[in-house]
Amino acid sequence: MATTEDVWRKDLKMIHGYPMIYAFALDWERMEEFQSRPDDLVISTYPKSGTTWISEIVDMVLNDGNVEKCKRDVITSKVPMLEMSVPGLNISGIEQLKTTPPPRIIKTHLPIDLLPKSFWENKCKMIYLARNAKDVAVSFYHFDLMNSLHPLPGTWEEYLHKFLAGNVPYGSWFSHVKSWWEKKKEHPLLFLYYEDLKQNPKEEIKKIASFLGKTLDNETLDRIIHHTSFEMMKDNPMVNCTHMPSSMLDHSKSPFMRKGVVGDWKNYFTVAQNEKFDAIYKKEMSGPTFKFCTDIQSA
Ligand code: A3P
Repeated sequence: MATTEDVWRKDLKMIHGYPMIYAFALDWERMEEFQSRPDDLVISTYPKSGTTWISEIVDMVLNDGNVEKCKRDVITSKVPMLEMSVPGLNISGIEQLKTTPPPRIIKTHLPIDLLPKSFWENKCKMIYLARNAKDVAVSFYHFDLMNSLHPLPGTWEEYLHKFLAGNVPYGSWFSHVKSWWEKKKEHPLLFLYYEDLKQNPKEEIKKIASFLGKTLDNETLDRIIHHTSFEMMKDNPMVNCTHMPSSMLDHSKSPFMRKGVVGDWKNYFTVAQNEKFDAIYKKEMSGPTFKFCTDIQSA
């Protein structure tokens, strides 16, 4: 039986061609055998795209904006992470889901190919939140500094190289976003952007409500926007992940609720790094027409 010491800061392990967090990759059969329920709602993202934010928004929408109800538990219990598994700490998304009352909201970062087949067979509704790649890279770098389940990132320059090569947990941002985008053609999937949510939360929350069959009045929408603003979530111990063991998430290295802005990449990318990034981006994203913005003014 593995202990936490065996999984902290370990190299990624390949699962069907995708680099996976070592602890999660142990006993992968459990993922392949996972049985969904038709009323499960999946929240899917590439890491650091605002998963916690949209999870709290969805929980609020489903609870008609009732703040008290939304304080019933911490976010990691209200919205379990499917692939999460930490031997030694007794943390397992699949075990949690066995006792989560339906309808369940399930978080995952898995690429399409690794998501248990049962979700597709049951035609479970899914919400995908995408965030511009430059801010994701910066956020992911900081997350690697504070999360013992990930390999150390190295310098920013070294990390950016790994990110562009897809040599990070869950693999390439480009493949992830493109494949989930394609999937919406054939599956009930709402595709949203972090930058839109930041710029026009009311419209985006209305889209979420409508996708979930809810109609919310203006006052409720305003309450959800307020409760899920970065400033509110940063200080809310139910959602800011400070409840997680500090041996796993060390907020003194970098807080989980770090900045929550669009365009922080400009504080990290050198001109040369930006040019290299843009060249790779152009090649990788030449197909579908995404509307990513990397600066809120240019949205
Ligand atoms: P930064 O590191 O850029 O600040 P995830 O939940 O997928 O791990 O994403 C984490 C990122 O979302 C972090 O980005 C975090 O600060 C940001 N975030 C969390 N809550 C947010 C909110 N309410 N509004 C905007 N951004 C938020």
